[in-house]
Amino acid sequence: MSGHTLGLVCAAAGGIEQVRERLIEPMLDDGWTIAVTLTPTATTWLEATDEVGKIEAVTGLRVRSAPRLPNEISPHPAVDCYAVVPATANIVAKLALGIADNQALTQLCEAIGGRRPPIVVFPRVNAAHAGQPAWDGHIAALTRAGVHLVYGEDVWPLHTPRSAPNKQIPWYAIRSAIESAAAEA
Ligand SMILES: Cc1cc2nc3c(=O)[nH]c(=O)nc-3n(C[C@H](O)[C@H](O)[C@H](O)COP(=O)(O)O)c2cc1C
Repeated sequence: MSGHTLGLVCAAAGGIEQVRERLIEPMLDDGWTIAVTLTPTATTWLEATDEVGKIEAVTGLRVRSAPRLPNEISPHPAVDCYAVVPATANIVAKLALGIADNQALTQLCEAIGGRRPPIVVFPRVNAAHAGQPAWDGHIAALTRAGVHLVYGEDVWPLHTPRSAPNKQIPWYAIRSAIESAAAEA
């Protein structure tokens, strides 16, 4: 049993609809505590399919999206590791630049800046996202800051936009990266 706590951030990318069944529930079964935070767009997607309530029911924690009020306490415990799964090209760019304009990014930017807890990021991107002129710089900046990227031809070969609607997310590689990062924390 793990006994670790994961702060899981989900952005509005393909595969988000599988996160509960393919990542959250198996990790809960292995003894993890999982505190989920969604980007604003991911929140609208998962509310539309009743997934927010299902995630709260299995994790036993509120799904966060909006920032707390200054006089409120956080509804989430301290975490041993963060994972951004799936990460959009948008959240990767903002993370690399230190833009913290929603709750998910606020947590992650603080962790990157403080170099703890460790962060695993799976950019669920296509060849057009990765062809954006600033992309390589974002990946390099995150790597320099010690972020563990599940990224590259071996785990996620880039596809042309809208050509891979059912492409399988590399759940095994993501889970391995989270376990390695939490173990070194
Ligand atoms: C159906 C649909 C699927 C999308 N899939 C992806 C994706 O796989 N990867 C990605 O980077 N952006 C994808 N996007 C675009 C993002 O949702 C969009 O950039 C959004 O502003 C990201 O917000 P967030 O990063 O705050 O979650 C998709 C958009 C739609 C409508």
